[in-house]
Amino acid sequence: MSIIIFGSINMDLVVQTHRLPKPGETVIGDHFVTLGGGKGANQAVAAARLGTSTYLVGRVGADSFGQELLAGLNDFGVNTQGVFIDKTISSGVGMINVETGGENTIIVVPGANGKVDQSDVNRLNNILPKTSLLLLQLEIPLEAVEAAAIAAKKFGVTVMLDPSPVPDNFPDRFYSLIDIITPNQTEAARLVGFEINDQEKINKAANIFLEKGVKIVVIKLGKNGAFYATEKERDFLKPFAVKSVDTVGAGDGFNGGIAASLDRGLPLKEALKWGAIVGALTTTKEGAQTALPDLKMLENCLINWVN
Ligand code: RIB
Repeated sequence: MSIIIFGSINMDLVVQTHRLPKPGETVIGDHFVTLGGGKGANQAVAAARLGTSTYLVGRVGADSFGQELLAGLNDFGVNTQGVFIDKTISSGVGMINVETGGENTIIVVPGANGKVDQSDVNRLNNILPKTSLLLLQLEIPLEAVEAAAIAAKKFGVTVMLDPSPVPDNFPDRFYSLIDIITPNQTEAARLVGFEINDQEKINKAANIFLEKGVKIVVIKLGKNGAFYATEKERDFLKPFAVKSVDTVGAGDGFNGGIAASLDRGLPLKEALKWGAIVGALTTTKEGAQTALPDLKMLENCLINWVN
């Protein structure tokens, strides 16, 4: 079928540096580049690269970044008919510092993403009947994300939430709208209110999400792979080993890979493998969208991966 990503679109202003500055310090960086980013856009590109029919719904500003971002998304095969060009505000930007070895800091200025509202959700209603899955993140206003999830439920569409970044007050009522939640360890900890530093805590956190109404919990564990839990089964998934140079967008690749696989009707464990490979490959080059694999690359990795 098709999937929809309802979320943020940013221009990433990326600096490579041998080390990140301390507060008040200036360091001379090595290299600067502008790249398409934003969690919503990255996840859409990840799925489209794998041959999935992918709609992105969101906003950019009426500026040169907005034009560039739309052109880039279209080149990657993402359907951007649902992206509104907002003349009242600039496009979202991500200020990203990447240290040699992969550590990074990101500051996002939402711009047009921060204005996403019910009028954008209304555009979803035309696409939802053609869709198997709605993939959401939290870089646009929470009310709009919740309204989109409610709309998807009316059409029987699977709702997948990457709860990133975690807002201060994530409402409990939201969990019953979520079929699949995919926090990383830090995000899961913020949502459940305790540190997640061992297997017992991972299980405890997963139980809390399940009790609140989520059907599938996937906790991303970075270099340690991932953990998944449903009412019936739970297990750890090993990481797909690569040489990482820049971890920006790894989580987005993971989510896009899972969504693409589920849209093809593959079972959960296979979907998690797709996510793990796409997420890992995203870290092998600079930027979020630049290293995303196509279906052939993914299939080669699947053949050679003993998990
Ligand atoms: O997940 C990575 C993304 O986070 C970047 O592309 C940046 O724009 C921020 O949204």
